Amino acid sequence: MKILVRLLMPLAVIVGATVVVCARLLHQDIRHLALPVALVVLLVLAVLWWDLIRPLSTIVRWMRRFRFGEPDAPWALPRKGFLAPLAREARRMAQSLVAARAAAAEEARLRNAGESRWTPDRLREHVRTALKGRPLVVVSNREPYVHVRQDRQIRCLTPPGGLVTAMEPVLRACSGTWIAAGTGEADRDTADAHGRLRVPPDAPLYTLRRIWLTPEEEQGHYYGFANEGLWPLCHIAHTRPVFRADDWHQYVRVNEKFAEAVFEEIADTDEPCLVVQDYHLALLPRLVKDKRPDAKIALFWHIPWPNPEAFGICPWARELLQGMLGADLVGFHIQFHCNNFLDTVDRMLESRIDWEHFSVTRADRTTWVKPFPISIAGPAPDASPAVGAGQTAKEAVLKSLGITARWLGVGVDRLDYTKGLLERLSAIERFLDKYPAFREQFVFVELGAPSRTKIPRYQEFEASVEAEIERINRRFQTRAWKPIVFLKKQHSHQEIAPFYQAADVCLVTSLHDGMNLVSKEFVASRTDERGVLILSQFTGASRELLDALLVNPYDIDQVADAVQYAVTMEPEEQQARMSRMRETVQEHNVYRWAAALLTELARLRPSPAPAASPLQLPAE
Ligand code: G6P
Repeated sequence: MKILVRLLMPLAVIVGATVVVCARLLHQDIRHLALPVALVVLLVLAVLWWDLIRPLSTIVRWMRRFRFGEPDAPWALPRKGFLAPLAREARRMAQSLVAARAAAAEEARLRNAGESRWTPDRLREHVRTALKGRPLVVVSNREPYVHVRQDRQIRCLTPPGGLVTAMEPVLRACSGTWIAAGTGEADRDTADAHGRLRVPPDAPLYTLRRIWLTPEEEQGHYYGFANEGLWPLCHIAHTRPVFRADDWHQYVRVNEKFAEAVFEEIADTDEPCLVVQDYHLALLPRLVKDKRPDAKIALFWHIPWPNPEAFGICPWARELLQGMLGADLVGFHIQFHCNNFLDTVDRMLESRIDWEHFSVTRADRTTWVKPFPISIAGPAPDASPAVGAGQTAKEAVLKSLGITARWLGVGVDRLDYTKGLLERLSAIERFLDKYPAFREQFVFVELGAPSRTKIPRYQEFEASVEAEIERINRRFQTRAWKPIVFLKKQHSHQEIAPFYQAADVCLVTSLHDGMNLVSKEFVASRTDERGVLILSQFTGASRELLDALLVNPYDIDQVADAVQYAVTMEPEEQQARMSRMRETVQEHNVYRWAAALLTELARLRPSPAPAASPLQLPAE
C-alpha cells in the first residue's frame, strides 16, 4: 500500500500539471478534460497495480518471510510477466542461501563432533595445497551438461550415469577445467569459439571445454570400440564384444583429439595434474605423457576389469595397456579389479610387477595401481520429500502415478543389459507367484533412462524389457492394479528423489557393475532411515553396503525371497540397517574419494613415458 501511495502522489502532481497545461494550450475548459484524463489515470494505475506493484509486494513479502526462516513455497513467486526475471533471481539466491545455511550447520556440527568428514570446502582447501595452486584438469568422454533444443528453446540437461554423478560435485568444489565431447545439438551455440563455457549454467564454478567430434568419430569411438567392444569385454555380462578395425582407428583418432585439447589447456602450467576418466580414453595418458613428461596423470577406470583371458580377446589389448600405463596412477573401484589389471599386464607386456606395493615398472617408469571406491556427494540440501499436508511420500508418489498399493518397489537404471533388469522382472514375477498375498498390494516402478540407443544390442534390450513388462502385467493385472509401472525417460535427480524417499524397497540387480551409485543415492536420500536396499553381490557397492540384502541376481528365487523379506521387515531392523549404511555413505563420500586420488597423484614424482614404439594407426 505504501508503494501505491508513493507512486500515486507524484503521478497525481504530474497528471494535474499536464491537464492544466493542455487546457491552456487547447483553450479548453479544464473540466472537459477531467473525465478522459481520470479514466486514463485509472487505467494506468490498474496496469501498474497488476503488473508491477502486486508482484513486487509478493516478492518483498516472500523475501521477508524467507529471511525470517518461515517456510514458504518458492512457486508463490511470480513465474510470468515483467518481474519474472527478478523472481527467478530471488529464487536462485534463496536456493544458494539454503545451501549455504545447510553447509554452515553441517560444518558446525562436524566441528562440535570433532569428526573428520570430507566436505566441498575441505576438499577445495586440501586440493589447493596438494596441487600447489595448479588447476585441476579432468577429461572424460561424457560431458556434465548437454545443451539440446526442445520446443524451440535451448535446454540444459544432466546426462545419466555414474561418472557425471560422481565427478560434478568434485569440479564444483575444486574448480578447474573439465574437457569432454560436446554431443548436444545446441552445444556449439552455448560455448565460445574455443568450445569453452562456464558451468553450472545457473551459478558458474568451473570451465567446461567441449571438443567436437565428427559423426564418424563418434560412431567408431563411442558407439563402436568403447561401447560394443570394451564395455561388454570388461563387464562379462554375456553380450559378445565386437571389435572392428575401423572402430579402433576412430578410437585412436578421438584419443588424439582429446590429447590436443589437453595440450592447449595445460600449455601454461608446469607439472599439470590431469585426471583422465574411463574406458573411452585408455590411450590418452600415454599420448599426453609422450609430449608432456612433466604432467602428473591419473586414470580412473569406472567399470570392472576382467581376468587376463577375457581381456586378451581384444585384438588391441597390448596397445590399450601401453596407453593406460602412460598414467602415473591407475585407479579402480576395488582391489579385485586392480589385481585383474596387474595380472593382465603381467601376462601381456614385458614389465616388472610389484605385488607388495601394487605397481608396474616398465623401462624407467612406474605406474601405481590402487583402489579408490567412488561415491556420491551425499544428500542434496533439498532432499526432503515434496509432499502435501497429511500425505506420506509414498502416497504422494502413488497418487502422482494414479495407482493404489500398500508396498512400493523402485528401480533406477540406464537401460543397459548389464543392469540385470530382465532378471529383476523375473524375480518380481516369481515373488507374486510364490507370495500371492502381495498381488494387488505391491507395485514395482522402474525409472529407466534410454541409453546408447543407436547400438542394436541396446535396442533389442529395451524391446525385451518392454515385452517382458507387458507379459507380466498381462498375467497379473486387475481392473485397478498392475504389478509393474515402467517410466521410460531420462529423469532428473529432482524427479528421482521422491521415488527413492517413497520406496519400501529399492532393487539394484546388476549382473556386473564397477560401483553402482544408485544404491548409494537411495541410501543417502533416506533421511527417515526406512526402506530396504536389495543389492547385487556383483557390484562394487556390495563391498561397502553390507547392510543391504545382498543377492545373486541370476538366482531368481533368492531375489524373490529378498523382496518378500524386505517388504515385511520390521521398522527397527530397517532403521538399524539403513542408519549403518547412511553412516558409510556419508563418511565415504565423493569428496573423500577425490581427496584420496589427488593426494596420491600429487605425492608421485612424474616420470617420463616408457621407451616403447609410438602407437600405430591401423592401415586404412
Ligand atoms: C558408465 C561409465 C561412465 C558413463 C556412464 C553412462 O557408468 O563408466 O563413463 O558415463 O556409464 O554412459 P554413457 O555412455 O551415457 O556416457
